[in-house]
Amino acid sequence: MKTIAFSLPLISLIFLLSAVLSAARSFDYFYFVQQWPGSMCDTKRGCCYPTTGKPEGTFTIHGLWPNFNDGSYPSSCDKNNLYNASKIKDLLPEMQKTWPTLACPRGDGHKFWAHEWDKHGTCSESILDQHSYFQAALKFQKKANLLSILSDAGIAPDGAFYSTKSIIDAFSNALGVLPSVECNWDESRNPQLYQVYLCVDKHAQDFIDCPFYPKRKCAPEIEFPAF
Ligand SMILES: *[C@@H]1O[C@H](CO)[C@@H](O)[C@H](O)[C@H]1NC(C)=O
Repeated sequence: MKTIAFSLPLISLIFLLSAVLSAARSFDYFYFVQQWPGSMCDTKRGCCYPTTGKPEGTFTIHGLWPNFNDGSYPSSCDKNNLYNASKIKDLLPEMQKTWPTLACPRGDGHKFWAHEWDKHGTCSESILDQHSYFQAALKFQKKANLLSILSDAGIAPDGAFYSTKSIIDAFSNALGVLPSVECNWDESRNPQLYQVYLCVDKHAQDFIDCPFYPKRKCAPEIEFPAF
C-alpha cells in the first residue's frame, strides 16, 4: 500500500515533467528561406549547376526551418526518420526546378534535400511528415514569387544596384509581412541580394511577421546580379 501511495504522485510528476519538457522542445514558427542563384554563383567560391541542368532564373528554395521565438532553433530531431526519396517521388520533378542544389561538386539534389529534412524537417515532425514538409516548402515558393514581386517594382536581376529598402518594401507590400534580406559578396566584394527570409506559422499555413528577425544586415545599396 505504502509503495502505491508513494509512486502515484511520483508517476504523475514524471508525466507532468515530460509534458513540460516536450512542449519546451517543440518549435514556434518556421523560416522559409529562398535564395537568388545568381548570388550563389557570383562569389569567389562559385557554384556548380545540378546534374539535371542549369536551374531556371527564379529564387529557389533553401529550406523551411523550425525556429524558437528567442532566435535559436532545434536540429536533427529524429535519427529514426531520415530522408527517404521514395516518400516524395511525386514531388521530385518540381523540386529539381525550384529546390536545386548549387553546391560543388554538382549533385542531383538528394544530398541537399536529405540535409534539409534530417537537420530541420525532422524537428517539425509533430506537424509535418516528410511528404507534407517538402510539399509545404513548394507551396510557399509559389505563394511568394519573389522575382515577379521585384519585377513589378522595377527591380530586375541586371547587375545594377538597388536600395535595400526598396527591395524590402516591395516584398512587404506584396506579401503583407516584413521579410529579412541577407547579402553576400561578389568577387569584387560588392554586397548583393542573396537570401530572403519569410516567417511561416508553426502549422505551415501562412506567412507571418517574424517573432525574431535574423540579425543580418545588408548595405543600403546592393547588387542584383544576373543569372
Ligand atoms: C522508404 O519509404 C518507403 C515508402 O514509404 C518504404 O517502403 C521504405 O521501407 C522506406 N525505406 C527506408 C530505408 O526506410
